Amino acid sequence: MADRDMGPRPMKTCMPIGVFDSGIGGLSVLRALQHELPHERFVYLADNAHAPYGEKSENFIRQRSHAITEHLLARHHIKALVVACNTATAVAIHELRTQHPALPLVGVEPALKPALALSQTRHIGVMATRGTVASDKFARLLGSVQNEAHFAVQACNGLALAIEQSTLPDQAEVAQEQITQLLKTYTQAMGHFGSAPDDIDTLVLGCTHYVFVENTLRQLLGPKVQLVSTGEPVARQTRRLLAAAGLLSQGPIAPAQSIRLLTTGDLRGLRAAAKRWLELPPDVCQSVPASLQA
Ligand code: DGL
Repeated sequence: MADRDMGPRPMKTCMPIGVFDSGIGGLSVLRALQHELPHERFVYLADNAHAPYGEKSENFIRQRSHAITEHLLARHHIKALVVACNTATAVAIHELRTQHPALPLVGVEPALKPALALSQTRHIGVMATRGTVASDKFARLLGSVQNEAHFAVQACNGLALAIEQSTLPDQAEVAQEQITQLLKTYTQAMGHFGSAPDDIDTLVLGCTHYVFVENTLRQLLGPKVQLVSTGEPVARQTRRLLAAAGLLSQGPIAPAQSIRLLTTGDLRGLRAAAKRWLELPPDVCQSVPASLQA
């Protein structure tokens, strides 16, 4: 890596912001980033070949997070990085910060504190991947708030994968049925939702994929339950970090240059998700090798 031999490349305002997730879930964060920072360029990497992360080992997720960060720095010259994945944030962000002290870095974590501010019944549901729920970082976060409300925490095995599959035309129908079934099972396991005393009135979406099944959740839980996600606060934090580092982009950029989406997996799925959720044309999407070497 020639860049590494020559020392870190100086950051410039015109460089893009890197964003990554195990798959398409982080597009929910990218949507908020684009809204908050319309003059920035973004390079998004979906590690679809290795999704879901939530049911992989911590070691594996750390290795992928390091490889993706190196790739985005060396090949795309990013000026900042948003880890748009709760699972990767939970297990890898500390090491990423240590390895890249000069890189502005933002992670996502389940929004327990914002949920506390919203809940009237003090009964809060939390959906996240098994990896996030099992992590030390999540245990510390939960420990910091659990005297203030009752938290029903649910690891949602299989849900992120079904959401990934729902973007593939030949698997969409089966995946949608599976999503509905999984959501029923997991929400029932957390308890009764509603606004009566002891009902869960607030549900934290602690995985960036789950934002894309909000409509199904609303149908199951009714309109009054509050769904809390993290895209917007993460976008605001990204703006603050860039401003503090003097790295905010100076002016408008052509829409054609504003966004690139990369996948280590099936290009069809990323293209379908980009169209459905960000109204982006297929030519902004491209494949990269799963090894990220070439
Ligand atoms: N979207 C990710 C998260 O926020 C990862 C889901 C997965 O790959 O299991 O946790």
